[in-house]
Amino acid sequence: MKMTLKSAALILATSACASLAFAASAKKADKPADPAVVEAYLKATFGKASPEWQAKLVPDETLKTCNKYHNNVPAAEADKIMAREAARVVYPADGKFLGDWKSGAKIAQSGLGGRYSDKPGTVAGGNCYACHQLESKELSFGTIGPSLTNYGKDRKYDAAEIKRAYTKIYDSQAELACSNMPRFGANGFLTEQQIKDIVALLFDPESPVNK
Ligand code: HEC
Repeated sequence: MKMTLKSAALILATSACASLAFAASAKKADKPADPAVVEAYLKATFGKASPEWQAKLVPDETLKTCNKYHNNVPAAEADKIMAREAARVVYPADGKFLGDWKSGAKIAQSGLGGRYSDKPGTVAGGNCYACHQLESKELSFGTIGPSLTNYGKDRKYDAAEIKRAYTKIYDSQAELACSNMPRFGANGFLTEQQIKDIVALLFDPESPVNK
C-alpha cells in the first residue's frame, strides 16, 4: 500500500484507537471485538476528516494481522510479517548508511508532520524522543522504547549493527512483528537522507548520543 507523507502519525494514532476499542470490547465480552464494530468506531472518530484522510484509516495486511491477534501474533504470522516488511526496505544505492548527525539530531527532536495543522510543505520529523532517550543531556523523553543513549558506542560502531538500525528505522516491523514503532521509511514519512542522518546520530562517534 502506498502511503503519503502525512500518513504515519495518523496510522499510529489509528492503530492505538483500534487497540483500545478491541481491548475495551474484548474485556467486556471476553472475546475478540468484532472488526466491524472497530471499523464503525474509527469512522465515527474521524468522521469529519477529508476523504484523503479517511483512506488512511484502512489498515494494510500487516496491521490487519496485528489487530486480529491484538499484537500477540503466532510465530508463523510474525515470520510472514517480518518477511513482508523486510522486502519493503530500500537500502541506500550508494551503500552509505551514515549521514550528518547534526541534521539527525534536529529530525529526532521534531514532531512535525502527519498532523491536520501542518502547512503544505512541512518537513516531517522522527519524534524519536516521544518514545526514546537519545542524548543524555535531553531531559524530556518517553519510555515506550528502550534508551538509545550510547547506542553506537555500546555496539562498537559495528557495520552489521549500523545496517540493522537503518532497517529498524526504515521499517520497524522488519525487525519485530507488530512493533509499536512507526515504519518511517516504508510509509514514506521520512526520506532516505533523513534516515541516514538519524543513523549517524546513533552511530557517529562525535554524536552527543555517544558522549
Ligand atoms: C511510538 C514510539 C516510538 C517512536 C516514535 C520511535 N520508536 Fe524506536 N522503538 C520503539 C519501541 C517500542 C522499540 C522496542 C522494539 C520494538 O517494539 O520494536 C523501539 C526500538 C528501537 C530501536 C532498536 C533498539 C534496540 O534494542 O536495539 C532503535 C534503533 C530505535 N527504536 C530507533 C528509533 C528512532 C531513531 C526513532 C525516531 C526516528 C524512533 N525509534 C521512534 C518505539 C518507538
